[in-house]
Amino acid sequence: MHIHKFEKIWLILGVTALFVFLTVLGVSAFYDGNQPASCLVTIDPEKVTETKPFDKPGLHKVEGKEWDYELVFVVSAFKFDPGEVQIPKGATVKFMATSTDVVHGFEVAGTNVNMMIEPGYVNEYTKTFDKTGEYLILCNEYCGTGHAMMTSKIEVVN
Ligand code: CUA
Repeated sequence: MHIHKFEKIWLILGVTALFVFLTVLGVSAFYDGNQPASCLVTIDPEKVTETKPFDKPGLHKVEGKEWDYELVFVVSAFKFDPGEVQIPKGATVKFMATSTDVVHGFEVAGTNVNMMIEPGYVNEYTKTFDKTGEYLILCNEYCGTGHAMMTSKIEVVN
């Protein structure tokens, strides 16, 4: 069978690109440990307030982990619990959030923290707060009549 020269080049390029992408994906997943951000931890949405750590929403100091604090949020229509929280400057904080009812958003305005909070799943994101100031947390998934009022606040203090 005769294959045209350009056809051959195109095939080689295609197969090479496939291997390059699979290698990047493999190294990222198995060497760097990058996994999908959500759907790893599940929770019974009807028993959120009885399930650790969601029985005690708020900021908790932890020892011996890569982060200094765990910031636990119970999200429901139409509020974030806690509604306001203070974080010491320079602290690395692991956000942990779940919903008791419908899908909500969890965006810390002006940062990379932006999660979709689904009932039945626990979402996590780790971030270091290097600057003092106020950060607005808002729900960016339409969840009902009180959606626009759903906010919380982080204050980074010295
Ligand atoms: Cu909760 Cu919109």
